[in-house]
Amino acid sequence: MVTVVAPATKPIWDFGYADKMTDADWQTVQKASADLVAAMPQIAADPRGQDPKWKDALTKVSASADAAAKAAQAKDQMALAMAGDALVEQCGVCHMAFDPNAK
Ligand code: HEC
Repeated sequence: MVTVVAPATKPIWDFGYADKMTDADWQTVQKASADLVAAMPQIAADPRGQDPKWKDALTKVSASADAAAKAAQAKDQMALAMAGDALVEQCGVCHMAFDPNAK
């Protein structure tokens, strides 16, 4: 998670509220959100993935990751910021349940 998910999520958070986005910034966000979407099966395959709380949290995170990827494709910064906000909350739900020390 830390190796893929964290670096993939950071640009979404950083650029959701950036004052100005260049084409290169959008490319960064497009790549990052695609990486995040691609990381979902890996998190689902975790041994804890059978736990309903894990599944629930992951379903929501996965939907927001898809939303972020769509927003990045459409270069829709408002939608990107909304997906990013949803992720802050949803990543946190799983961390609270399974790893209170993770951010
Ligand atoms: C389905 C549960 C789940 C979801 C969803 C989830 N995480 Fe995690 N995360 C964990 C667990 C559990 C750990 C602790 C390491 C471990 O046990 O694998 C962790 C650890 C981390 C860490 C390392 C924290 C530290 O203390 O160094 C980061 C960073 C992180 N997650 C980021 C994210 C981000 C960003 C998202 C949302 C895009 C996310 N995680 C979604 C379960 C989840």
